[in-house]
Amino acid sequence: MTDPEKIREKFRGLYNEDPLLFRSPGRVNLIGEHTDYNEGFVLPAAIDKDIVFGVCPRNDNLISFYSLDFNEHAETDLNNLHKSEIHWADYLLGVVEQITKTGEKIKGFNCVFGGDIPIGSGLSSSAAIEAGLAYALDHIYKLNIDKLQLVKLAQKAENEFVGVRCGIMDQFINIFGKENHVLKLDCRSLRFNYYSFDSDDYKIVLFDTHVKHSLASTEYNLRRRQCEEGVRILQHHFPWIKSLRDAKKEEIIEHKKEFTRAVFDRCLYVVEENERVEKACNDLSENNQEDFGLQMIFSHEGLRDKYEVSCRELDYLVEVASVQQGVLGARMMGGGFGGCTINLIKNDYVAEASKIISEEYRITFGKEPGIYVCKIVDGTGIIK
Ligand code: GLA
Repeated sequence: MTDPEKIREKFRGLYNEDPLLFRSPGRVNLIGEHTDYNEGFVLPAAIDKDIVFGVCPRNDNLISFYSLDFNEHAETDLNNLHKSEIHWADYLLGVVEQITKTGEKIKGFNCVFGGDIPIGSGLSSSAAIEAGLAYALDHIYKLNIDKLQLVKLAQKAENEFVGVRCGIMDQFINIFGKENHVLKLDCRSLRFNYYSFDSDDYKIVLFDTHVKHSLASTEYNLRRRQCEEGVRILQHHFPWIKSLRDAKKEEIIEHKKEFTRAVFDRCLYVVEENERVEKACNDLSENNQEDFGLQMIFSHEGLRDKYEVSCRELDYLVEVASVQQGVLGARMMGGGFGGCTINLIKNDYVAEASKIISEEYRITFGKEPGIYVCKIVDGTGIIK
C-alpha cells in the first residue's frame, strides 16, 4: 500500500497547501478473461496495491499534474485539452475531457499522485489512474455523478483519449471493489454480486514475469475485431446473436468453414470462458476450491492455445506452479503478452511454492519474478 504521507508532503512542497487524499486500487481477476468486451462474465477483486492522489481545486483553469513515480510535471489549460507528449498524462486528461463532456462545470486543479501498482503488469494501473481521478474530481467539485457513471466515464477516457478499446471490468472493480470479496459482473446488464473470499486457508499470489506487455494494445484491439468478425458471421445464421455472450459452441462449430482459423478459435474460447466463470462461481458457493482452481487452469489453456495472448514466461510460470503442492489454480491474468500469473495457493504452502517457482523461473529466464501476496480491499475512496 502507498503511504499517503509521501503524497501529502510532496503536494505541500509543490503547491503550498494541504490536499484531499484518495486511494485507488489495482485489481486481480480470478477468472473470465477477455470476456468483458464480449458482454460476458468476469470475477475480479480490488487489491492492496494502489495509487494515492492528492488533489485541490484551483480558481483558474490550469490543470497541474505531478507524478511522483516518474518525477515529472504535466500542465495544461482546461479549455485546451489534447493528447500530451507525456504518456501517463493522457490517462488523466482523458478523464478531465469526459467530465467536461457531461456538461459539469469544473475549474482547474492541482494533483500529485504516486503508487505501488507495477506498470504494465496486468494489475490495471491505468484504470486505477482513470477511475481514481474521476472519483477525486467528482468529490472536490461536488458533482454527484453516480458510481456507475464514473466507471463508464473512466472507461471512455481510455477508449477515446488513450485509444485502447478496453472493456469495463477494470474501472468497474476499481469503483465497486469490496474488502474480502470478489465481484461477479455481468458485463451486459452490469448487474453484479459479491462472493465472500475471506479465507484463512488459501491466498491469492501473483508472479510477475517482468515482461512488459508492449504488444498488448495493438493485439488487444485486434482480438476485439476478431470477436466482432465472429459475431458478424454468426448473425447471418442466428440473427439474435448480438455478441459472443449469446453464442453457443455448437453454433460456431456448425459453421466452422466460414471462419478463419483465428476467428474460430477466439469465438470458441470466449464461449468456453463464460461457461468456466459460471462453474467457478458455483464452486465458490460450494466452497470447493479444488474445482475452482481447475477452472483457472483450463482458462489458462484457452488463453494460451485459442485466444493466443500468453507468452513463454507466463506459460512457464503456470506450468511450474500447477505441479506444486498446495497450488489449487494458476493462470495468466489480464490482457496478456506479459504481466502476472494469478495463483490460488493453500496458506501453508505459499512460502514453499513461491520459493520453488521463483527459483525455477530464475534458472530458466535469468531473472527473479515479482511475488505479490494480495489482500482484497475496498474500491476507490477518500482517505480520512
Ligand atoms: C484488460 C482490459 C479489460 C479486460 C482484460 C482482459 O485488462 O482493460 O477490460 O478486457 O484486459 O480480460
